[in-house]
Amino acid sequence: MRLAGKVAIVTGGGKGIGRAYVRGLAAEGAKVVAADIDETATVNAQREIEDKGGEALAVTVDVSDDASINRMVQQTIDRFGRVDVLVNNAALFAALPRHKWDEIPLEEWDKVMSVNVRGVYLCSKAVVPHMCSQGGGSIINIASAIFLSPGGGGLIHYIASKAAVMGLTRALCRELGEFGIRVNSIGPGLTASEEIVKKTDPAQIESRSVMGSIKRVETPEDLVGTVLFLASDDSAFITGQMLVVDGGRVFH
Ligand SMILES: NC(=O)c1ccc[n+]([C@@H]2O[C@H](COP(=O)([O-])OP(=O)(O)OC[C@H]3O[C@@H](n4cnc5c(N)ncnc54)[C@H](O)[C@@H]3O)[C@@H](O)[C@H]2O)c1
Repeated sequence: MRLAGKVAIVTGGGKGIGRAYVRGLAAEGAKVVAADIDETATVNAQREIEDKGGEALAVTVDVSDDASINRMVQQTIDRFGRVDVLVNNAALFAALPRHKWDEIPLEEWDKVMSVNVRGVYLCSKAVVPHMCSQGGGSIINIASAIFLSPGGGGLIHYIASKAAVMGLTRALCRELGEFGIRVNSIGPGLTASEEIVKKTDPAQIESRSVMGSIKRVETPEDLVGTVLFLASDDSAFITGQMLVVDGGRVFH
């Protein structure tokens, strides 16, 4: 098992694609913290991993809140004693209403930035001292392929937030390389997570599936292997990069 002995925190790990990361990391032997603003979902995630014989911890967190994040990291240290991997996956996305670009309420703009960008910054800041004292770690930021091919969709604030996640990834990798901490990001294409399936016209999801080189709908499980790769020593000399996982639709 590639991640035996490692401890991983997945924000937004209660549901959707984050829940698939929790499963995948646990299956590779990691002790996993399923951290989410949805308490019931975190408890369900913990139970699922424990039922399969793995080790997991449910933590309720709001990634836009510094004190809440510090509690999440402290609970992780209290239970597992270390933190090797942080997957910054929590974001406002599927639940966001679509707006014309010049009609986004400012409070919504600020909320998206505080969860999707400040959250990534604050969660990273909270784990770095522990990773430094352990001699290294891996931070994986979930960006989006939409940033490489934006247009339409009524999500200009979301797209701007994911561009910021890429900028943060590159800038942070320069700060942390000397401490053995790698910082990378993943750019998923439109992925049929629970919320997306609930909120999106099936015809729209289908129409996207033929735009890539691999002509099928992207699923949360399609992203898990890349998270495992970036979490493990298999990617020991890769940092500051964005790996696009979208079936070959956009190129960068
Ligand atoms: N589904 C897609 O098509 C797609 C495409 C590209 C990128 N992504 C990215 O992948 C990630 C997961 O997407 P998803 O489709 O599973 O989305 P989702 O909305 O289903 O899941 C987001 C998770 O984050 C949690 N969350 C929201 N706000 C939070 C907060 N303040 N603090 C802690 N947790 C919070 C939610 O409870 C939920 O479990 C997101 O970063 C999203 O931007 C998704």
